[in-house]
Amino acid sequence: MTKATILVTGGLGYIGSHTVVALQQANYEVIVMDNLYNSSIEVLERIKRITGKRPRFVKSDLMSAKKMETFFKANPQIEGVIHFAAYKSVPESVANPLAYYQNNVGSLLNLLQSLQKASCSNFVFSSSCSVYGQPEALPVTESNTHLAPTSPYGSTKKVCEEILQDVAQKDVLNAISLRYFNPVGAHESGKLGEDSKESPGNLVPILMQKALGIRQELSVFGNDYPTPDGTCIRDYIHIEDLAQAHVSAIEYLLAGKAQRPHEIYNLGTGKGYTVLEVIHAFERVSGVKVYSQIVPRRAGDIAMIYADASLAQNTLGWKATRSLEEMLLSAWHWEQYKQNILSKRK
Ligand code: WQD
Repeated sequence: MTKATILVTGGLGYIGSHTVVALQQANYEVIVMDNLYNSSIEVLERIKRITGKRPRFVKSDLMSAKKMETFFKANPQIEGVIHFAAYKSVPESVANPLAYYQNNVGSLLNLLQSLQKASCSNFVFSSSCSVYGQPEALPVTESNTHLAPTSPYGSTKKVCEEILQDVAQKDVLNAISLRYFNPVGAHESGKLGEDSKESPGNLVPILMQKALGIRQELSVFGNDYPTPDGTCIRDYIHIEDLAQAHVSAIEYLLAGKAQRPHEIYNLGTGKGYTVLEVIHAFERVSGVKVYSQIVPRRAGDIAMIYADASLAQNTLGWKATRSLEEMLLSAWHWEQYKQNILSKRK
């Protein structure tokens, strides 16, 4: 007997697919909704190979409130929504801010409008530490209300949180916004991981491509920051810890434990690492030497951020447990699998 049915939008994406696995393994029935813009239908099979169950799949871009209303009416068994579907590239958001607002904010508005006529009132939103910009005090806590995102991507997440705050006050809606720090790594099976259609812009997938020899250069964007080795500090979190946090959040809502209509939680480890520390940690766990070159700073980067994640631990009962080394080794195994197995299928 499954616990409840959860709709996961963007469920074939990197964080979404790992969350679908965690939900199925926690005995939830999952419906995956995805427009396949930045993901592949093959991820359904990868999920099935891990859990033994292929989730029901609905192709949709969430851009029609009417279609979403019809969908919820036809699926009254849905008791919770986890909303991942969004564009997530920081540099792309700088190049095309309007597309980011239309997609990221528009899809949330359509979902919330369609939920007004549905019986589902539990909503988990995929937010981001990028809403903070460069915090004045570290570790950063959720009570930091001076939010100064440095990209349109971060601004769309901040606007979405504000929409949830206002709508949840009025409607019958229990909402949680989860502020992810830097998600990295892959599933322990080695059969699921980051596989965006876009060329990676994030450090760890680029580092893996360099180590595999499918990328010539690994540029370190600036070593003149006020940090121990001059390179930026980030709070990297294992994708499986992140996925588990979504199960904890939905369980918390379904159990009726919400204390306010909209609650916000940091999802980080509370520990920051510099770019060079990440590269050196990878060299240790993989035994692969990786040469990099220092280049000028990347526009929009902040110097350092890491989370105070105690609120999620105290309220949701969730805490990240996996180390940076485990993150990097899981990413390495996945990238090798992707290159050796998946590339031969094309
Ligand atoms: C990390 C560090 C770069 C690439 C990401 C997501 C954002 C949000 C937070 C979820 C930075 C440096 C990178 C490279 C480098 N997550 N770097 N060379 O910018 O912290 O933001 O996590 O919402 O959506 O984008 O992640 O991996 O791009 O950069 O030196 O080739 O690595 O300067 O200091 P970022 P990132």
